[in-house]
Amino acid sequence: MQDTLEILRKEWIALDAGTQSAGHHFHSFIFSTIRNNTPELRTVILRTVDETSSSLYFHTDLRSKKIIDIEKNNSVSALFYDSARRIQLRIQGLAFIESNNDYTKKVWRLMRDESKLCYMGPFAPSSAIESFLPNLPDNPLEKINQEDDKLGYSRFSRVKIVLKTLDWLQLHHKGHKRLQFKFEDEISSKWIAS
Ligand SMILES: Cc1cc2nc3c(=O)[nH]c(=O)nc-3n(C[C@H](O)[C@H](O)[C@H](O)COP(=O)(O)O)c2cc1C
Repeated sequence: MQDTLEILRKEWIALDAGTQSAGHHFHSFIFSTIRNNTPELRTVILRTVDETSSSLYFHTDLRSKKIIDIEKNNSVSALFYDSARRIQLRIQGLAFIESNNDYTKKVWRLMRDESKLCYMGPFAPSSAIESFLPNLPDNPLEKINQEDDKLGYSRFSRVKIVLKTLDWLQLHHKGHKRLQFKFEDEISSKWIAS
C-alpha cells in the first residue's frame, strides 16, 4: 500500500506543477460531462489542485454549456496524459460550481485584463451567431471600464472536481502498470491488469 500511495503522491506533485507552467503536460486536461445521455468532452486549463480534499479546479464562464450539464448531473470525468513520463490519469469525480466567493474575487483581482476579456463578450458561449464575430466587449482592451469588469466578474466561476476514482496507467515496455485508486474516507488502491 505504501508504495502505491507514493505513486499517488508523485502524481499530485505533477498535477501541481501543471498549474504552474503552460509547457507542462498536465497544464490542460480533457474534462467530460454528460449531456442528453451523451458524453461531452472539452479541453480546460488546470488552475489549482488540493491534495488534502482530493480536488482539482478549472475556471469557466457561468454561461457555458458545461455549467448547465453539471447542474443537471455533476458526475464528471477528467483525463490527463503526460507523454514524457508515459502516464495517463483517468479520473471520475463530482463537480461543484463556485462563483462570487473569496477565491473568485482574489483571482479576478489578480487576473490580467487580457484574460478577463473572455468573460466580457456579449454572446453566451455556444450561442449561434450569423457570421463570425469576435466574442469580445465593445470597448478595446485599453478602454475596459469598471462596468465591463463587473460584468465579466459576474460570469466568472471555477469548477471544483472532487475525485472519486483515479485510474493510473504507466506505459512500460516490460508490461504496462495500472493502479486503481478510490477516494472514500480513506484512500484505497489496487493493482489492475493493463
Ligand atoms: C487549450 C485550451 C484550453 C481551454 N481552456 C478552457 C478553460 O480553462 N475553461 C473553459 O471554460 N474553456 C476552455 N477552453 C474551451 C473549451 O474547450 C470549450 O470549447 C468551451 O469551454 C465550451 O465548452 P462547453 O460548451 O462544453 O461549455 C479551452 C480550449 C482549449 C483548446
